[in-house]
Amino acid sequence: MSETVPLAGVIGWPVGHSRSPALHRHWLSRYSIRGHYVPLAVAPEDLADVLAALPRMGFRGANVTLPHKETALALATEASDRARAIGAANTLVFLPDGGFLADNTDGVGFLSNLRQAQPRWTAATGPALVLGAGGAARAVLAALLDDGAPEIRLANRTQARAQALADAFGPKIRIVPWKAAGETMRGAATIVNTTSLGMAGQAPLDLGFDAADPDALVTDIVYQPLVTPFLARAAEAGLATVDGLGMLLHQAVPGFEAWFGRRPEVDDALRRAVLEADVA
Ligand code: ATR
Repeated sequence: MSETVPLAGVIGWPVGHSRSPALHRHWLSRYSIRGHYVPLAVAPEDLADVLAALPRMGFRGANVTLPHKETALALATEASDRARAIGAANTLVFLPDGGFLADNTDGVGFLSNLRQAQPRWTAATGPALVLGAGGAARAVLAALLDDGAPEIRLANRTQARAQALADAFGPKIRIVPWKAAGETMRGAATIVNTTSLGMAGQAPLDLGFDAADPDALVTDIVYQPLVTPFLARAAEAGLATVDGLGMLLHQAVPGFEAWFGRRPEVDDALRRAVLEADVA
């Protein structure tokens, strides 16, 4: 029998903007693993066929990104509890007897990023304030609850979307008005932006930190730029901040380990490789 070279990739439409190839290739090279990780541009109507065909070509699994995250979960043979809670998949592992396992590692990526930067941090320290109620917010809410957050204040421009998340995630979620988000920082131990505000080319998230506790931890899931206006203002107010790039790096760890057989490390060399990646 011929030797098989493990393959994995990221499935998106479009996919040229994805930093996952740079990330996984850095690890493949660093650990001298004879494997490949490739971008796979797949139209929505082709996803099911592609997922059935990939394992026959030697793929061990794949990441899925927009617009496939929900469909991949629906097509899965098995799904992790966290993928079900989030309602979307980002990491797929093909099963030996056919089909695939759908997992979502965004939430653990979020937690691992905060813990690597602030080892004493846990969501159980106190209430959290989460800004935004999109797909990223779902992963952050699931992770914060899983890590013991006693209360999560949720603010979103469109209140109906916040309400949908409160209905899905239960009584620890307390909806607060978007316009009062600054005030609701009072007493919050963790403050998280999950909106796209502050991303390069977008309006900044215009919030002051006057009401925030001096020992609150502030983080942003936006990582382009690394220091968003939101994080810059938090730092000016003397608060501890953690940028969002680490969430991207840490969410990739379980997939790499499942496909290539080695638990990889998240360090500065990886950060640099991903920041320098030539993406669309
Ligand atoms: P993702 O899956 O990345 O979270 P999304 O589902 O499109 O993306 O959600 C984007 C989030 O950014 C939402 O919370 C959105 O608020 P709405 O639900 O009101 O749309 C928020 N957002 C985007 N642009 C915004 C703006 N100009 N002002 C306030 N919130 C904004």
